[in-house]
Amino acid sequence: MKILGIETSCDETGASVIERLPNGTLKIITNVIATSSDMHAKTGGVIPENAAREQVKSIIPVIKEAIQDLSEKDIDAIAITVGPGLIGSLLVGVETAKTLSYLWKKPIIPINHLVGHIYANWLNSKNTPEFPALALVVSGGHTDLIYMKNHGKIKYIGGTRDDAAGEAFDKTARLLSLPYPGGPNLGKEAKKYIDENPNKILDLFPRPMIHDKSFDWSFSGLKTAVARQIEKSTKVSEKERQMFSAEVQEAIVDSLIEKSIRAIEKYKPKSFLLAGGVAANLRLREKLQARIPFGNSGKLTHTALHIPEISLCTDNAAYIAAAAFFTS
Ligand code: KG4
Ligand code: ZN
Repeated sequence: MKILGIETSCDETGASVIERLPNGTLKIITNVIATSSDMHAKTGGVIPENAAREQVKSIIPVIKEAIQDLSEKDIDAIAITVGPGLIGSLLVGVETAKTLSYLWKKPIIPINHLVGHIYANWLNSKNTPEFPALALVVSGGHTDLIYMKNHGKIKYIGGTRDDAAGEAFDKTARLLSLPYPGGPNLGKEAKKYIDENPNKILDLFPRPMIHDKSFDWSFSGLKTAVARQIEKSTKVSEKERQMFSAEVQEAIVDSLIEKSIRAIEKYKPKSFLLAGGVAANLRLREKLQARIPFGNSGKLTHTALHIPEISLCTDNAAYIAAAAFFTS
């Protein structure tokens, strides 16, 4: 069985064909992405109207490339992101998927973008997640902890009360004069500092709500904290920029990990699934790998950590198609 996935929720236009093999695992046949990121770099962020116009230009070539020499007979269904996202961008994907569904007489499967992100973890055929699972979805607009009893049986257990983790990366990156896209660029600057100064993080920035019993976060205060630090210097040097980047990253990563581990200790899931664009962050990946096996108390958690390949963390259509296999 093969599903064509289409993803157009922001500035990436994605189309992917995923096949379910007889042993039940998923195989990526194609995964094509066009991005209008360079255009948004010029304006320092995504202008929704511009992103939607780029979606219109890219959608047909991207789908054609994803389908390659397959014909509609080879495709069993079309999976499409229906939200959350930028309305203009989403409409381009949804209308295209509806047209193809009508022409090809194939069912259309609507997928929530955030649930889709989680299914990037089902694209590793060697290590499929087991239930119950706990998922941390960290994207540009959302930071959510989700308990998954099974496919389709999901419960929200906590999330950000203001800015998302990705948004905190992006906004502090801008304050540090780092180019768009802020998150990955801040991650690169932070890595330079950590490589040169291992174990020298001073915990300069706050970790709000870290002692709060809920599984919620608050990241909006980081912007003010970074702005205050910058005000103290007449000019932020390259080395200071790297240091501040490492400190911001550590504050975000520590907050995410602390609550995740507490949730693991409470819910005792078989799997912990990292998902969303921020899952591409190397420090978050490394620290989770180090911390999850032993929890906060040092006792073994028996929770297996699943992290998608870096290229499958940020927006793409492979996980949208993957999610559709498990949506009845
Ligand atoms: O899931 P995603 O690709 O798009 C949304 O659905 O929002 O997530 C994008 C977010 C952005 O905030 C971006 O800065 C962040 O993920 N991001 C990163 C990294 N790569 C992407 N943040 C920190 N480190 C990274 N390496
Ligand atoms: Zn996303």
